[in-house]
Amino acid sequence: MDYKQHIKIVEDWPKEGIKFKDITPLMADGKAYKAAVDEIVTYAKEKQIDIVVGPEARGFIVGCPVSYALEIGFAPVRKEGKLPREVIKVDYGLEYGTNVLTIHRDAIKPGQRVLITDDLLATGGTIEATIKLVEELGGIVVGCAFLVELGYLNGKEKLKDYDVLTLMTY
Ligand code: PRP
Repeated sequence: MDYKQHIKIVEDWPKEGIKFKDITPLMADGKAYKAAVDEIVTYAKEKQIDIVVGPEARGFIVGCPVSYALEIGFAPVRKEGKLPREVIKVDYGLEYGTNVLTIHRDAIKPGQRVLITDDLLATGGTIEATIKLVEELGGIVVGCAFLVELGYLNGKEKLKDYDVLTLMTY
């Protein structure tokens, strides 16, 4: 499947110099969205995962349908102040700015095999922070799956100790 035909590149958004990769046209095409999710489901089956974890907000778009297809749970990682119960947190750097990510303290059981999903791997800061949260809770990160990788930002460097699936590279 040529997924790239469904990605729109938006110049200078959200800041000058950024070429934003808009995945919404891919989501809008039911066959393309399903094909992308199915590839990640196949990968997740090979990895024998117990639970999917995805960072807000676009990590949910990729991860939740994978959870649904495999009949396993999904744990959301959210920006600070969004989760209602006891959380653990981590600071992280973004392609543009900095932030704090949180996860519920009871979201993952020690020893669970975790797949982390997101729409896009840029600098890798978001996924690195998400991995820290999962590992602090005793989860085993057995794979990370993305729709899009921005190869020129070297995010994979931060993930060199992990198995990574990306469906498109720019
Ligand atoms: C975007 C994207 C990834 C992250 C990638 O999310 O969806 O999660 O940035 O960048 P990185 O590899 O440099 O960390 P954003 O933080 O903009 O949040 P959103 O999905 O809630 O808009």
